[in-house]
Amino acid sequence: MKRMYSLIAILLIFLGFTYIKDTHQQAATKAKVPTVGILQLLSHPALDAIHKGIIHGLAEEGYHVGKNVKIDFQNAQNDQSNLKTMSARFVNENADAMIGIATPAAQALANASSNIPVVLGAITDPKGADLVKSNTHPGNNVTGVSDQAPLKSQLKLIQRIMPNMKTLGIIYTSSDDSATAQYHQFAALCKEEHVKLKAYTIASTNDLNQVAEQMVSQVDAIYVPTDNTVASAMQTLVSTANSKKVPVFPAVDTMVKAGGLATLSINQYKLGVETGKMTAAILKGKNPADTPIHFERQGEMTINLSQAKKLGITLPESVVKEAKTHGEVFK
Ligand code: TRP
Repeated sequence: MKRMYSLIAILLIFLGFTYIKDTHQQAATKAKVPTVGILQLLSHPALDAIHKGIIHGLAEEGYHVGKNVKIDFQNAQNDQSNLKTMSARFVNENADAMIGIATPAAQALANASSNIPVVLGAITDPKGADLVKSNTHPGNNVTGVSDQAPLKSQLKLIQRIMPNMKTLGIIYTSSDDSATAQYHQFAALCKEEHVKLKAYTIASTNDLNQVAEQMVSQVDAIYVPTDNTVASAMQTLVSTANSKKVPVFPAVDTMVKAGGLATLSINQYKLGVETGKMTAAILKGKNPADTPIHFERQGEMTINLSQAKKLGITLPESVVKEAKTHGEVFK
């Protein structure tokens, strides 16, 4: 009798174990690995840094590439038809979320689906680009992170470094919504501050050299907004500007590294990290419709010392100190 009881007990334990094992397996097959499609407009250092940041932000929130999240990364090489086919590809593969890096990429994704969540990776003006109903209450399947630069502090910095400046030039691509939005805001600021601003537009990198040549003979300094085309061809602009010793003040840190003189910049990598974190929250069930757009407000002092030397410009002591303690110094 005793023996029989222990046999039954062993049997029950065995059955219990197989039951636990089975339910575990079921849970594992049910929790399928989510797919995130990332669509990047083109390669330039800022967008590449944002892409890297996104992967980091997802990992910080527990989504590790190749383990429990699948990333389908597509680079559209600045081509409108690529944007369209790549967005369709994400929809076809039933992505759980899609991230657009730069405005045209985000617009292509938003056009491709009205139910898959779309996360904006550093979009300057989500409302102006018709991506959301409002920045505080996006309303549909789209939300994300804005890279709106601190234009006023940037203008103040230019004035600090160039106290005798007479004319400031601004160069941007007429078809770039992000850059055009900033041009309008920057122009309004210059008017308020009584700074004479002269605008130069390009259609593509093909006319950058020619327009830059003309600009450097007419202005004392150059401001560049977050313009995807200029960001991908900074060397062209910088070498032309250097030949006339005209400093370039870009909107972001990566463009200072590429030959700009100084700026108060939102860290591009950090923008990506925030985008990745927001995507993770959405994968866990957060609704984009009532997730406000995230704005990074604080700019970090970023300077390029070898440029200062080339241009023969002495940066104010306080600027250098701030960059050394709270910002970034490129040598
Ligand atoms: N804000 C740009 C857009 O909406 C993308 C962008 C982010 C960018 N960081 C940048 C462009 C830096 C140029 C430089 O399209």
